[in-house]
Amino acid sequence: MSTPLIIALAVAAIVVLGGLVFVTAARKSEVRGAGALSRETKKRDRGAAAAAGATGRAYESAATATSTDLAVRDSVELTEWVAPDPEAVGETRRAFFNRATVTLMSASLGAFGASLIGFLWKGSSGGFGSKIAVGKLDDVIQGIKSNKGFMYYPEARAWVTEYPKDSIAKAQAVYASQAAVLAGMEAGVVALYQKCPHLGCRVPNCQSSQWFECGCHGSMYNRVGEKKGGPAPRGMDRFGLAVNNGVLVIDTGAVFGGPPIGTNTTGQEAEGPHCLAAGGGGH
Ligand code: FES
Repeated sequence: MSTPLIIALAVAAIVVLGGLVFVTAARKSEVRGAGALSRETKKRDRGAAAAAGATGRAYESAATATSTDLAVRDSVELTEWVAPDPEAVGETRRAFFNRATVTLMSASLGAFGASLIGFLWKGSSGGFGSKIAVGKLDDVIQGIKSNKGFMYYPEARAWVTEYPKDSIAKAQAVYASQAAVLAGMEAGVVALYQKCPHLGCRVPNCQSSQWFECGCHGSMYNRVGEKKGGPAPRGMDRFGLAVNNGVLVIDTGAVFGGPPIGTNTTGQEAEGPHCLAAGGGGH
């Protein structure tokens, strides 16, 4: 799943939850009696309605007559103030906090759920962890030649190099248990995971030696990722490959362990000076 889609899902979840919160709050905010007219107001309105039928002059006379009279107010009966029930107040406060807690938890769970869905669907999005088409096989091989033996694909976190055709027989014996890796070799290429199998540093290529040389602790690998020196416990890990309608696809959903120490199917020795001073230790 692409990042914009994940964000859209998260935003949708938040909007839905926000709507729920709004509806809940609106229902609870009804004030009993709000908008009701008092008895005095109703009485005044009735008087005004009766006066509406009179002529303007009569209305004026009536108003003048009443304005000169001293108004005598009806006696108002005062009712004793009663303090609110503390239990009822406490109940309302508890209800508010309960609703707030449930709302916050719902929002958090919704956001977490959206993130989880996005993470689980990453396999179909085309990013690392999925099958990545890197172009026509012929173009990839041409690119490797143009880049002096190495092509790096950051989206796949992989180096792609050529696998020599005259070494296929040896590869079939060594890599028989890794059918997808072997399929790539038979097509003429290998896809090597950039992560060093020693302690995980990103392994750079070395143009002069035509090997991979890890700057962290000095592990070295030939151009197809077979270990030549240093503390690494095996050759470089790798990905399965497929060629679909002429397009090379790297399946980064599964990492195949590198070949054991001593594997040397291509017989490629260093083709020039090493990039690392030690030049490999032959471990
Ligand atoms: S991480 Fe590469 S040699 Fe240690």
